[in-house]
Amino acid sequence: MNTLGLESEAEYFAHVTAVDQLSPLLAWAEQAKQPVLVLGGGSNLVLGRQVPGLVLHIAIPGWQVIREEGGHVWLRVGAGENWHETVRRTLEAGLSGLENLALIPGTVGAAPVQNIGAYGVEVGERLHQVEVFDTVEGAVRWLARDECRFGYRDSLFKQEPAGRYIITAVEFLLSRTPELRLDYGGVREALGTNEAPTPMGVFDAICRIRRSKLPDPSEIGNAGSFFQNPIVSQAHYEQLKSSYPELVAFPAGRQWKLAAGWLIDRCGLKGDRVGDVGTYPRQALVLVNWGHACRDDILAYAGKIQACVKEKFQVELEPEPRFYP
Ligand code: EPU
Repeated sequence: MNTLGLESEAEYFAHVTAVDQLSPLLAWAEQAKQPVLVLGGGSNLVLGRQVPGLVLHIAIPGWQVIREEGGHVWLRVGAGENWHETVRRTLEAGLSGLENLALIPGTVGAAPVQNIGAYGVEVGERLHQVEVFDTVEGAVRWLARDECRFGYRDSLFKQEPAGRYIITAVEFLLSRTPELRLDYGGVREALGTNEAPTPMGVFDAICRIRRSKLPDPSEIGNAGSFFQNPIVSQAHYEQLKSSYPELVAFPAGRQWKLAAGWLIDRCGLKGDRVGDVGTYPRQALVLVNWGHACRDDILAYAGKIQACVKEKFQVELEPEPRFYP
């Protein structure tokens, strides 16, 4: 149940298929003084051998068109649905907006937590609202997109008070008139020159790009990009750019976002391996579990990468996945 393929055992485990199961489970955990871990597809987690307390596996299904108006469609999807299959299903239903987010592992409910993003689109841009179980109020409520405080790999759900909201459904705002985003990460090139681009064509192209450089978690344990792309000041960027003219960086307001994969690669660590942990030979930003690595092996290896990048570029890399416990 975790894409890094770590052997991990929950003390208590519940498979949640309906919102009304949450209240009694949380009441039990509180009364038994047990911590709670909310688990979706396990694609952004580094788990210890023993997971203390109660794991709530969110497997709530659902797919419902709520409203359609002027080419816009409001679609509600259960938090437990598989992300990639949901993207495919929206496209098969003639709804565009999620095509750039093809092949991201995990569930629909996990997507807003770190505001998943790829190839120029972030899920926060495609949401209308998010249904949550508010563990403080003990009630279900909807949070509008603006309340979710989306940023790069960030949202209200990661900020304080972390763990307050359990996402139970997501309402997307999709379109019947495609506005394709093709100017990022080789998407246009991958489409081929003869095709008139369609949302399904973009979906297929992005699947091809991702398959060519990212390992399939069902074959090699991994959690996608292991570090966020770091954001540095203009002055820091200029100093790095003068030493490394080939530096890969993108403007981010008045700052610059650096390609962490490039930094790791330039440290000579692409395809590096220590025991059962290493970086993927085709994308240095992805840490892989080549066999029986455990949480501490991954922690130690991530520390090695952070130290090398810090020494060479004076840049701090922040892990994307959450370590638990
Ligand atoms: N690069 C290297 N060497 C490497 C890896 C990358 O030189 O080993 C260079 C590439 O040549 C490219 C640049 O770094 O010029 C950026 O690489 P890439 O286009 O692969 O994107 P990324 O910045 O590594 C981000 C997201 C991915 C997302 C892609 C595409 C983050 C942390 N990662 O990766 O998201 O799929 O862009 O949009 O923002 C994920 O979060 O799990 C994830 C896969």
